[in-house]
Amino acid sequence: MRIIKVKDYQELSLTAARLIASQVLLKENSVIGLATGSTPEGMYKELVKMYENNLVNFEGVISFNLDEYVGLEENHKESYSYYMKDRLFSHVNINEDNIHIPNGNSSDIEEECKNYEKLIEEHGGIDMQILGIGRNGHIGFNEPDVKFEAVTHVVELDEQTRKDNSRFFDSIDEVPTKAISMGIKRIMQSKKIILMAYGIEKANAIFGMINGKIDPKLPASVLQLHPDVTVILEEGSASKLEFKVLV
Ligand code: GLP
Repeated sequence: MRIIKVKDYQELSLTAARLIASQVLLKENSVIGLATGSTPEGMYKELVKMYENNLVNFEGVISFNLDEYVGLEENHKESYSYYMKDRLFSHVNINEDNIHIPNGNSSDIEEECKNYEKLIEEHGGIDMQILGIGRNGHIGFNEPDVKFEAVTHVVELDEQTRKDNSRFFDSIDEVPTKAISMGIKRIMQSKKIILMAYGIEKANAIFGMINGKIDPKLPASVLQLHPDVTVILEEGSASKLEFKVLV
């Protein structure tokens, strides 16, 4: 794991955006795995700025989002489909046909998962996968006690995750109980992985991910087995690490 410690949210966002821009510069038809949540919002803002300044061109980029809630309308403000349009897709020149987000409203969710996997395969897998991390160490929506061999599948959301995400909804009852998520195996098949973390509430998960044993109870710990992971940590999220962090 390559660890980059940054001083604040702005630097976290800029560092991640630059890594994506450089990936796209080196390979214009890169397959990028995208994440949602509050952590990457600043990264998307930076990417939009870079696009407006002609520093990155999304024309050939193919995107696959990590996850989507089951049962939220596509244009529900908290659906990840809405999020992606709002934060990135409607501001850059990505080709609509190249955008992929699991359909959480499919009448056959299991079939939707299989098709999503097939599509990723047909595009040759993911070149660069962006990840955030949940307080409980989840990546995507792969919750504790995950099966490492899972590909895209339906997950039951952990109570902790529903509680954490209820800040975006009017009440916890509105937070879906299920989601579609790329599985750990699919994430691990990505050629490169960038994980971003912000805030002291992520410090335990980050500590376990880096210093703990590889354990399905802390899904992100599996990343210790991946040959090309870059972890970008703002100071709060890095505050429990005991070794010297490279700056
Ligand atoms: C969500 C998403 C994850 C995200 C995580 C952290 O539930 N499914 O992909 O990384 O929780 O979110 P945040 O960045 O808002 O803390």
